[in-house]
Amino acid sequence: MQSFCAGDQVEDINFFNIPRLTAEEFARFSKLIYDESGIFLKENKVTLLSNRLRKRLKDLNLENYTAYLNFLASPENKSEIHDLLDVVSTNETYFFRNERQFEAFEEVLEKVAQDSSPTVRIWSAGCSTGEEPYTIAILVDQHKGSLARKKVEIIATDIANSVLEFAREGVYHGRRIEKVNPEYLKKYFTLIPGTDKYRVNDDLRKMIQFYNLNLFKDKYPEHLDIIFNRNVMIYFDKEHQKRLVEGFADVAKPNGYLFIGHAETLYNLTDRFTYQKIGQSPVYVKSR
Ligand SMILES: C[S@@+](CC[C@H](N)C(=O)[O-])C[C@H]1O[C@@H](n2cnc3c(N)ncnc32)[C@H](O)[C@@H]1O
Repeated sequence: MQSFCAGDQVEDINFFNIPRLTAEEFARFSKLIYDESGIFLKENKVTLLSNRLRKRLKDLNLENYTAYLNFLASPENKSEIHDLLDVVSTNETYFFRNERQFEAFEEVLEKVAQDSSPTVRIWSAGCSTGEEPYTIAILVDQHKGSLARKKVEIIATDIANSVLEFAREGVYHGRRIEKVNPEYLKKYFTLIPGTDKYRVNDDLRKMIQFYNLNLFKDKYPEHLDIIFNRNVMIYFDKEHQKRLVEGFADVAKPNGYLFIGHAETLYNLTDRFTYQKIGQSPVYVKSR
């Protein structure tokens, strides 16, 4: 699981004595990764990618990157692509990341609570280690009075299995939970004795279905009232960003809401969502 950001300057950590990728190896890996996940790695990411691949080489007992490319190409190692995408993806996240958006989410919840549908479906697409869907679940619980007539479903998906395992486990500490206020910490978490770690309580865990979903290969959940896709499309090129938001428009309910990262935009990507400001936060609403 990687927790540094796409733009980070990284040091060449040459553990295991494996050199950096050559330009040709980098080109082959980046094409494979792009084709499989839409993740677009610019040439300046060669050190970052070398660092991330070394551990995989070591675990598989392979001597060099070309051997790893051959390993990946072999039909009997089909599942290795998941491990490759797992080490390549960037998983930075924390509870109540960009709080303003969650204030807007609370307003949106109150709006959807008023409609006639018996269900509210919320999708955290690119949920990483679970902090985003658990934050959503906390706020859904806080609004359970207004939502009393509704069945609320929270779906949380990611391409990387290791982060999904972490999310299902639901144990957090330090910076990850820094923004959880003391009231919520007390209500929704249990301190693991003798540690500084907190486990998310079962009631909250049960509110979320976690599963693996590749945004460019797999079928999306449907009839969604609210989609969170924050800090994910930043890793894709424009063509993939367009495919992604078209896909979201196809599965969102009429007037469904889309939350994207505060550094991301739908400008020039689609006209099927319109920009709205709710409280202090930009939110997109499906218009057609
Ligand atoms: C930086 S995290 C964002 C986590 C959370 N949404 C947030 O904003 O805090 C980006 C996540 O997108 C996932 N991801 C990248 N490409 C993906 C793809 N093609 N399909 C599904 N998930 C993908 C990564 O595995 C990673 O966990």
